Amino acid sequence: MSSPPLPHDDNGQGAPLVLLHAFPVDARIWDPQRPALSSKRRVITPDFAGFGRARALATRTSIDTHADDIHALLDALEIPKATLIGLSMGGYVALAFARRHPERLSGLVLADTRAGADSPEVSAGRLAMIAKVEAEGMAALMDGLLPRLLSAAATPEVKEHVRRIALDQAPTGVIAAQRAMRDRPDQTQALGAIDVPTLVIVGEHDAITPPADTARMVEALRCATLEIVKGAGHLSNQEAPQAFNAALLAWLDRAGC
Ligand code: MLT
Repeated sequence: MSSPPLPHDDNGQGAPLVLLHAFPVDARIWDPQRPALSSKRRVITPDFAGFGRARALATRTSIDTHADDIHALLDALEIPKATLIGLSMGGYVALAFARRHPERLSGLVLADTRAGADSPEVSAGRLAMIAKVEAEGMAALMDGLLPRLLSAAATPEVKEHVRRIALDQAPTGVIAAQRAMRDRPDQTQALGAIDVPTLVIVGEHDAITPPADTARMVEALRCATLEIVKGAGHLSNQEAPQAFNAALLAWLDRAGC
């Protein structure tokens, strides 16, 4: 028997957009995007297995498996093709989806993410984060991680919103996702095969996937537009929602996807 589709929100009408959330949060990270985007398009925001409403689903051991969950969700919703919008970890999943299920993609947005695999330092950092969650819990993890997810200029409200969503996550899902991200392959070579319009967005002060990495990704893509969100950090959709939404909506109109 096939497993139930990922829990998700489904708002608006029109060509579907599927928004894939970052780590260590859930689909609520898209709260600042849902109203603006769903006034023009059908907007679907799933929680990945192990996160949010999907916390009780079996955790996934690879980013590819998360991509296959999105494929199963499109099947369940009878959506032949969608534009995927992936934020950070969601971008890793969107890239895996583009490699594994290209026939189901009509457009791609890669926000504050990268195609390369982890460096040894990042990989070691993930092990340290796993140990921290196991020993001290999510609050301790977020004390160290929040200043990297958001710029120094982020408002207290934005910090609190992100922290609150993160503290709701189950440690099992968070640990599994760290392992899946650590083990993800380098997807740089696959970028050249992506044949749908692609928008790459990055916060000017993104400390996790900095604009220099993003620029390399744009060079390797066939049909990409780069948008740098001024003043924002890694979670650029949270820190500068109006600029993020405006860039996205303008690109969707232009790209026709
Ligand atoms: C995220 O925001 O999803 C994570 O920072 C990505 C990562 O840890 O590589």
